[in-house]
Amino acid sequence: MAGFDRMAATYQALELCAFGGGLQRARTAFVDHLTPCRDVLTLGDGDGRFLKALLDAAPDVRVHSVDASARMLALAGGRLTAHQRARLTFDCADARHFDPGQRTYDAIVTMFFLDCFVEGDVERIVSRILPHLRPGGLWLYADFAIPPSGAARMHARVAVSALYRFFRWRADLEARTLPPSEAILQRAGLSCLDQREFRAGLIRSAVYRYFSVGSTDQ
Ligand SMILES: C[S@@+](CC[C@H](N)C(=O)[O-])C[C@H]1O[C@@H](n2cnc3c(N)ncnc32)[C@H](O)[C@@H]1O
Repeated sequence: MAGFDRMAATYQALELCAFGGGLQRARTAFVDHLTPCRDVLTLGDGDGRFLKALLDAAPDVRVHSVDASARMLALAGGRLTAHQRARLTFDCADARHFDPGQRTYDAIVTMFFLDCFVEGDVERIVSRILPHLRPGGLWLYADFAIPPSGAARMHARVAVSALYRFFRWRADLEARTLPPSEAILQRAGLSCLDQREFRAGLIRSAVYRYFSVGSTDQ
């Protein structure tokens, strides 16, 4: 068994031991922004705790959920009612090569996902997926972060380094350090609407809006 399949069954318990409810608060901080959405793409949603919150919050949403781990997708499916599963398409695929075809979305969601990749892969994922986000669409984001200064920065550097060592061992992660994901999103044309920090800045959650080139609704 490889990658995140290996740790799917224990993922939630490990998270609760390490962070309590901090990660789930970050995942769901801006889920209400998606209430009016019809089509949402989630990348690397894992065991489905964000997915469940989204389907509960947005009665008309249809979700396309892409994750490379079949075990994570199975856990996610197990959280949902039959009615919710009917509003969902699962794709077990590598997001670095995933092609949504003709599909477009009102929102894209990456929760503790972009930090699995080296910078070049984050750039490739963003540039491949962004053309499928409708003008004015949202990108919900949460990840670990390193605050700019002080004791919080030192604490975060130790915590993030330990996390990467753990995930490189258990999930065969290639990345060794946090990629500059929010800078990449901003360079691609996304503007931050709101953001929140948890655990003294170790965890960040943000909602971005996409104003495509030539759009006048900024
Ligand atoms: C750190 S976990 C985060 C899971 C969940 N989003 C959360 O908030 O906890 C990363 C997730 O991304 C998935 N993943 C990792 N690399 C991937 C890839 N190349 N393509 C698609 N999914 C991937 C893993 O299977 C896992 O479910």
